[in-house]
Amino acid sequence: MSTLILAIETSCDETAAAVVADGTAVLSNIISSQVEVHRQFGGVVPEVASRKHLELINHVIDGALAGAGAAFDSLSSVAVTYGPGLVGALLVGVSAAKSIAYALDLPLVGVNHLEGHIYANFLAEPGLKLPALCLVVSGGHTDLVYIAGHGNYRVVGRTRDDAAGEAFDKVARTIGLGYPGGPMVERLAREGDAQAISLPRAYLEEGSFDFSFSGLKSAVINFLHRAGQRGDTVNRADLAAGFQKAVVDVLVDKTMAAAQALAVETVLLAGGVAANTALRERLAERVREKGLTLVVPPPVLCTDNAAMIACAAFHRLARGRLAPLSLNAVPDLELGEERYEGNFRGRVMN
Ligand code: KG4
Ligand code: ZN
Repeated sequence: MSTLILAIETSCDETAAAVVADGTAVLSNIISSQVEVHRQFGGVVPEVASRKHLELINHVIDGALAGAGAAFDSLSSVAVTYGPGLVGALLVGVSAAKSIAYALDLPLVGVNHLEGHIYANFLAEPGLKLPALCLVVSGGHTDLVYIAGHGNYRVVGRTRDDAAGEAFDKVARTIGLGYPGGPMVERLAREGDAQAISLPRAYLEEGSFDFSFSGLKSAVINFLHRAGQRGDTVNRADLAAGFQKAVVDVLVDKTMAAAQALAVETVLLAGGVAANTALRERLAERVREKGLTLVVPPPVLCTDNAAMIACAAFHRLARGRLAPLSLNAVPDLELGEERYEGNFRGRVMN
């Protein structure tokens, strides 16, 4: 009999649920995006996100079960993202998952959102071999993670200021594109010349695998400001292309340097910014040159979804890492950290 996991993800502005069999077969992957709701505010409004999750969560769970042709009583366990993320948003998913686990007496698995992003790679390539190095690039994180084995992570580099996705979103706003910025910048960049406007790249100290994108963001703002003062018209496509190239160059250079320093043979890409074609193509080129293996999930598994949470949960289950029904949302949960009491089946103990 297969292991059927229902996973729930509500850490930011996507209400998502998925059913995955044996950690690899995605039977359903329902993502209800709140982008249209938040667009009018130019970014995610936490209170609005929580309310939307509440409205959508049951429909999304029903949709995931129906899509998989699964009934509640066929499930093996329930998994949920419990951090990091927006506390009110996380709480909706955590409450839903705990209710289902309690009502059906099912094991509950608490998953770290970033761990979920990393495990999207195991959905793309179930046979992938560890150790590996993963570049996790999302709206809130830019981390280089050495994965020694399942659940065994070492963050070898991280951003010291803005996350890559955050930089895309802020630059998009500055050059008058809408929300979410990443896909908009990418689309506009396709029509531009990446060499036309020269922008800075922050490599930090020799040998550092950390990142910094705030200087680049300021350079874009200053460029626009100076052009405005001179009355020059700015080619926004060139600016978008130049910015995207500056981000991609640093991400790829640091990833390759870390891969060499750690002597890994496999490189993984994860998080919303991993949906970016320029980043995917450039990293693929460099990895191929070095004769390493690259795994990159399809774009739909890079941005927030619950299938990746189910996959991470499958490997947690295999290690017996279950969460108690007292599981709570942990907005600042670190990768590799487990923040709950005990380690037992998701059932009420009398
Ligand atoms: O992982 P994700 O869906 O949510 C978080 O966990 O943050 O990542 C969202 C981020 C946003 O900043 C968005 O602008 C960025 O990923 N993003 C992209 C692209 N698609 C999404 N950035 C660049 N190019 C894209 N195609
Ligand atoms: Zn994410």
